[in-house]
Amino acid sequence: MRRTWIGTLIVLTVVAAVWYMLAGPAYSEETQRTFIGASKCKTCHKTEAQGQQYVLWEKAAHSKAYETLAGESAKAIAKERGIEDPQTAAECLKCHVTAYGVDKKFLGEKYAITDGVGCESCHGAGGDYSKMKTMKAITSGETEPASVGLVIPNEKTCVGCHNEESPTFKEFDFEKMVAKIAHPIPEERKAKYKAAE
Ligand code: HEC
Ligand code: HEC
Ligand code: HEC
Ligand code: HEC
Repeated sequence: MRRTWIGTLIVLTVVAAVWYMLAGPAYSEETQRTFIGASKCKTCHKTEAQGQQYVLWEKAAHSKAYETLAGESAKAIAKERGIEDPQTAAECLKCHVTAYGVDKKFLGEKYAITDGVGCESCHGAGGDYSKMKTMKAITSGETEPASVGLVIPNEKTCVGCHNEESPTFKEFDFEKMVAKIAHPIPEERKAKYKAAE
C-alpha cells in the first residue's frame, strides 16, 4: 500500500516537472490575467489613423505561425523528432501559438489558437488593459503599462521564442527583425496624447 503511494507521488512529480519544462515562454504574471484574442485588439488597432497594427500583423508571419505547423516542412521537422502532428504537439505549440499551456480559465471567448503568435504573445494578456480608458491612460503616461499587464516588448521578449530551441533557428538580429514587424502609432496621433499630458 505504502509503496504504491510513493510510486504515485514519484509519477506525479515527474509529470509536473515535464509539464513545467514544456511550458514554453514564461507567462508568470500574465497567467493571472485573461488572454482576449487578436480580434479584440483589432477593434481599435486597424485603421490608418491608428497605425494599422492588426492589418500589419495579419499580413506577416506571426499570424500564420499555427498554420505553418500544418505544412510539409513542419511535418518533416516533426517526423525527425518522432512527433505525429505538430499542431497538437507541445514541443511546437509552445512557440507557435499564444498562451500555450495557460489554464483555460484565463482564455477569453475570442481567444483563438489559429491566431498563432498573436498580439498578446508579445504584449501580454489583454484582459486588464484593453479598455479604451485604460489604453488612453497608458499612452498619456498616467498609467504604468506593467501595472495592468501591458508589456512593451524588447529583445528579451523575442528571444523567448527566437532561440536555439527552435528547430529552424539560425540567428536573431534584434534591430533587423524588429524593423520587419514595426507597427507604430502615427506621430500626429501620439502628439495629441503628449499635448494632453
Ligand atoms: C511566442 C513566440 C514568439 C515571440 C515572442 C516572437 N516571435 Fe517572431 N516568430 C515566431 C514564430 C513561430 C515565427 C515563424 C512564423 C511562421 O513563419 O509561421 C516568427 C517569425 C518572425 C519573423 C518573420 C521571419 C523572418 O525571419 O523574417 C520576424 C521578423 C519575427 N518573428 C520577429 C520577432 C520580433 C522582433 C520579436 C520580438 C519583438 C518576436 N518575433 C517575438 C515566434 C515568436
Ligand atoms: C523555441 C521556440 C520554437 C519551438 C519550440 C518551435 N519553433 Fe518553429 N519557429 C520558431 C521561430 C522563432 C521561427 C521563425 C524563425 C526561425 O526559423 O527561427 C520558427 C519557424 C518555423 C517554421 C518555418 C521555417 C521557415 O523558414 O519557413 C517551421 C516549419 C517550424 N518553425 C516548425 C516547427 C515545428 C514542427 C516545431 C516542433 C517540432 C517547432 N517549429 C518548434 C520557434 C519555435
Ligand atoms: C512579435 C511581437 C509583437 C506582436 C505579435 C505584436 N506587437 Fe505590438 N509591438 C511590439 C514591439 C517590439 C513594439 C515596439 C515597442 C517600443 O516602442 O519599444 C510594439 C508596439 C506596439 C504599439 C505601440 C506603438 C507605438 O508607437 O508606441 C501598439 C499600439 C501595438 N504594438 C499594438 C499591437 C497589436 C494590436 C498587435 C496585434 C495585432 C501587436 N501589437 C502585435 C511587438 C509585437
Ligand atoms: C477599446 C479600444 C482598444 C482595444 C480593444 C485595445 N486597444 Fe490598445 N490602445 C487603444 C488606444 C485608444 C490607445 C492609445 C493610442 C491611440 O489612440 O492609438 C492604445 C494604445 C496601445 C498601445 C501603446 C501603449 C503605449 O505605450 O503608448 C499598445 C501597445 C496597445 N494599445 C496594445 C493593444 C493590444 C495588444 C490590444 C489587445 C490585447 C489592445 N491594445 C486593445 C485602444 C484599444
